[in-house]
Amino acid sequence: MKYRGYAYIYTIGCQMNVYDSEKLAIILNSYGYETTDDMDKADIVVCNTCSIRHKAEEKAFSFLGRFARIKKNKPHLITVMAGCVAQQEGEKAFVRVPHLDIVLGTQAFSRFGKLIDAVKSGKQKVVDINDSSMIYEAMPATSCTDENKISKFVTIMQGCDNYCTYCVVPHVRGRERSRTETNIVEEINLLVKAGVKEITLLGQNVNSYGQKEGLISFPQLLAKVNDINGVHRIRFATSHPKDLSDDLIYAIRDLDKVCNHLHLPIQSGSNKILKKMNRGYTREKYIDRIFNLKKECPDIALSTDIIVGFPFESREDFNDTMNLLREIEFDSIFAFAYSDRSSAPAAKFSNQIDEGKKKERLNRLLELQEYYTEKKNKKQIGKILDVLVEGKSGKKRDGFDHALKNMEQMVGRTESNKIVHFPSKDVIIGDIIKIRIENAYPHSLWGHPLGAQNK
Ligand code: 5AD
Ligand code: SF4
Repeated sequence: MKYRGYAYIYTIGCQMNVYDSEKLAIILNSYGYETTDDMDKADIVVCNTCSIRHKAEEKAFSFLGRFARIKKNKPHLITVMAGCVAQQEGEKAFVRVPHLDIVLGTQAFSRFGKLIDAVKSGKQKVVDINDSSMIYEAMPATSCTDENKISKFVTIMQGCDNYCTYCVVPHVRGRERSRTETNIVEEINLLVKAGVKEITLLGQNVNSYGQKEGLISFPQLLAKVNDINGVHRIRFATSHPKDLSDDLIYAIRDLDKVCNHLHLPIQSGSNKILKKMNRGYTREKYIDRIFNLKKECPDIALSTDIIVGFPFESREDFNDTMNLLREIEFDSIFAFAYSDRSSAPAAKFSNQIDEGKKKERLNRLLELQEYYTEKKNKKQIGKILDVLVEGKSGKKRDGFDHALKNMEQMVGRTESNKIVHFPSKDVIIGDIIKIRIENAYPHSLWGHPLGAQNK
């Protein structure tokens, strides 16, 4: 393949976009482009976009907007908007970004090369937001080309059929469809060969994996991945509370490589709001699922997603959410102010909440959670935990110079996904080592590898 120059990929949004950007990099590589971290060197710039909230969308437009000036001095530069905003906007993207060359929808990746050819042969404003049943099968399996080889995402399904009333995903990622088990296992084998130790299986609703296609169930898929030699840890996201089966709970309990952590978005603690969100479960059902889970896996770490300020959310509804945090005591939460998305039904709901009120509720919620996150972290002090070593720590913790002496400060993660900093001069990145936890902070833990002398 002819050498075409450098490609710069800018990724906004979720883990699935990180995964998709790796696929885009592979496609660009096979098309003669070398990926670079230096935007100034780029001959093609791809912005892989997210439309889940207004802010993410604005970030994409402002990133791409910069290239109007740059293209004046570099007319051969190809600019691409890929992913969810591209899918949502189609032709309209050219109104806000007139110098844009390609709009590449979420299901058009396999046709990317042809679109580049079209631009090279003089075609302007090329758009592909067509549907495709292709879900990665037609693409080469991800092989590791970057340095972060320890932990990788593997998408097992695309799209969503749930239609929560606030969410753009079903509109920009299409109907739910699952990848075959053979294809998934093949990709994981390649990753393991390249040195990957931890696999995170991704889907909008992994609990319904394979159901439409009559494939194996998600717990069965977990068992298959658990059997792969060289995989040390398995994570997955996202589970939907309405589909959290007992079989999945048993899989978390019984499969040794599946991490003792579950991310289970609740979104709101109020039944009235859950109904308006079309979530398909009640607060009581959610609590019941957590109760069953904790019965089988007493030490499981829990995290969740919450939206505050959804239309119609009264003070009482918000208090229901606050009380739910007090009742469940999550290890961590991701909380968001509701953001109106024009393609989602909730945009048409009356009774939208004032932005100031949303912000105030968000701050109160985060402040409350900080207490529980720190409390959960403090409970780790004195425990000996298995930590997967990720690398050298970028940020040194103040006051620990005496502990570091001539050692490096390293960073890793526990099974429960907590960050641990520790001093060492001889651990190997990718190893799972035992660390005695000695201190806890709001967002991380500190400890020493077992057997280490200096305290
Ligand atoms: N506004 C705010 N947050 C949203 N999310 C999804 N759609 C919206 C929206 N319109 C949040 C949900 C979801 C997470 C990925 O993003 O909490 O679980
Ligand atoms: Fe969006 Fe709901 Fe589907 Fe999650 S389950 S992707 S929130 S529609």
